[in-house]
Amino acid sequence: MNYRQQFAEKIHSHLEGMVDVNEIISLIEEPKYSTHGDLAFPCFTLARKLKKSPQQIAADLSEKINAPFLEKTVPEGPYLNGFLNKESVSRQVIQQINEKQGNYGSFSIGNGKTITLDFSSPNIAKPFSMGHLRSTVIGNAIANISEKCGYKVVRINHLGDWGTQFGKLITAYKLWGSEEKVRENPIKELFHLYVTFHEKAEKQPDLEDKARSWFKQLEAGNEEASQLWKWFREESLKEFAKIYGLLDIQFDSYDGEAFYNDKMDAVIQVLKAKDLLSVSDGAEVVDLTDENMPPCLIRKKDGATLYATRDLAAALYRRKTYHFEKSFYIVGQEQHLHFQQLFLVLQKMGYDWAAELKHIPFGFILKDGKKMSTRKGKVVLLEDVIKEAIDLAYKNIEAKNPSLVNKQEVAKQVGVGAIIFHDLKHERQNNIEFNLDEMLKFEGSTGLYVQYTHARGRSILRKASVKDDLNIVGLTDSHSWTVIKTLMDFPNVIEKSFQHTEPSVIARYVLNLSQEFNKYYSHVKILSDDAEQNSRLALVNSVTIVLKEGLRLLGVQAPEQL
Ligand code: ARG
Repeated sequence: MNYRQQFAEKIHSHLEGMVDVNEIISLIEEPKYSTHGDLAFPCFTLARKLKKSPQQIAADLSEKINAPFLEKTVPEGPYLNGFLNKESVSRQVIQQINEKQGNYGSFSIGNGKTITLDFSSPNIAKPFSMGHLRSTVIGNAIANISEKCGYKVVRINHLGDWGTQFGKLITAYKLWGSEEKVRENPIKELFHLYVTFHEKAEKQPDLEDKARSWFKQLEAGNEEASQLWKWFREESLKEFAKIYGLLDIQFDSYDGEAFYNDKMDAVIQVLKAKDLLSVSDGAEVVDLTDENMPPCLIRKKDGATLYATRDLAAALYRRKTYHFEKSFYIVGQEQHLHFQQLFLVLQKMGYDWAAELKHIPFGFILKDGKKMSTRKGKVVLLEDVIKEAIDLAYKNIEAKNPSLVNKQEVAKQVGVGAIIFHDLKHERQNNIEFNLDEMLKFEGSTGLYVQYTHARGRSILRKASVKDDLNIVGLTDSHSWTVIKTLMDFPNVIEKSFQHTEPSVIARYVLNLSQEFNKYYSHVKILSDDAEQNSRLALVNSVTIVLKEGLRLLGVQAPEQL
C-alpha cells in the first residue's frame, strides 16, 4: 500500500535500469497544491543521464505510465505528477486499517534487535524534578515507538542512588533527623535534611569531613550506613512508584548507580591496561585534550568513584547483558558534555559499539518563562502537580458531562494525558512552558482535543452499530480524501519519528488528523442510509484506530467517552 514506492517502481520500469529505484523513491515529493495531484517526480536528475530536457522526460513518462492505483499522470513542466485513483486507494486504505487495527503502521525494521533506553532516573532522597518528568515521558514514548518499529526494548531506570550526597544525608539524619518524620513524608523530609546540611556546612566546614567519612563507610559496607541507605532508597522508591503509577509507566530494570559498585574495578583495570589513565591533582582521569574536552574524572583523590565511572560500568554491563544494537540515554541537555566524554572514553577503550550509544537531550520546563527549580528547598512535588491536573479534569467533566460513567478514571486519563501530550507536542530540544489551564483546553493543540475527537468517533460508531461484513466502496469526495491521505501517511510518520527519536512528529500528526476529521464531520453527513454509509463508518473507525494508536505510542490513553 506504499504508493510512493509503487509510483517509483512504475517510473523505474520505464528507465531501463538507468537509475536505482531507491533513488527515485527519495526524489518523489508531494505536489505543493493538491490540485496538482498526490505525487510528484522531479525529472532534473534524469536529464543529464538521458540527455533530454526534464520537460521532455516528464512528458514521455506520462505517456507510458499507467497502473490501477493511478487515475492519471500529468507532466507539469519538469515534474511528472501522479493522481492516485481515489476509489481504489481509499478502499484499500480503509480496508487495511480495519483489518490490522492497532498493528497498522507497525514495522519490522528493528528485526527483533534490542535497544536499551535509560530514562527517568531520578535521584534517591531528592524530589522527582520536572526534568525527570520530561525524561520519563519522552523516554517512554521513544520506547513505544521503537517497539512499533520492531525492536525489542529494555526500559532502564538508572536511579541516582549512590554518591557523596549519601554521606551528607546520613550525617544530617544522624544530627537532626527523626525516623517518624521520614516515614511520614520521605522525600520532603530527606530533602529538607539535605538542604539543611548545605546551609549549615557553609558555616561549619567540619560537616563536610563528617559526610565524606560516612560515605567512605558506606562504600566499605558499614552496617549502620548501609541500613540507612537502604531505608532511604526504599522510601524514595515508594514515592516514585506513585508517580509511575499515575503516569502508567513501567520499567524492566531499576539497576541504578549503586548496582555498579562492584563493577567499577574491572573498568578501571581496562583503563589501566590500555594506558588511558593519568593523574591530575591526585585524581585519576582520562585525558581528552586531543578532543578539546575537559578530562573525564574516574577516581577522586580519596579513591571514591564518580558518576562517569558508574556510567562506564553501566554501558559495559548493558552491552554484555542485553546485547543491545543501540543504546539511548534520555537525559537533559545540560548533561551533554558528560555523555560526550563517556562515549569518547568507551571509544578509546576500543569498543566499536560505542558508536551506537546516543544521548537524546531535551530542554527545560519553564514557569512564567523561568526555569522551575527544586533547589534551595523550594520543592514542587510532582505528584501534587499531576493530582492537580486530574482534579481540574474532573471539574471540567462535572461541568460539561456530569452523567459520564467512570468519571474518576476518565479524569485521570485526561489529566495525565494533558501533561504528557503538552510535553510531547513540542520538539524535545525546545524549552516548554508549564500551564495546566492551557493544557486542559478542549480546543487548540491539546491532548484533550485529540481524546475528544477519538471519543466523538467512537460515539458515532456506537450509534450506528457497525456490522462486521463491511462492504466497503471507495470514497472519492474531497473531505474524505484529505482524511484518507493523512491516514495513509501514518506509517511514514512513525518511521520518521523513530529516525529522529522525536515523539513530537506523532503528536503533531494526531492533532492534524483530529482537525481534518472534525472538518470532515462538519461537512459530511455520516449517518444517512445510503450505499456509502458503511464505507463512511469504516473511515470513522479507521480514524479512531489511528488516533488511539498514535496516542498510545505517546503514552496517552484514549477514553471511549468524555
Ligand atoms: N540521576 C541523574 C540525574 O538526575 C540522571 C541519570 C541519567 N542516566 C545516566 N545513565 N547517567 O541527573
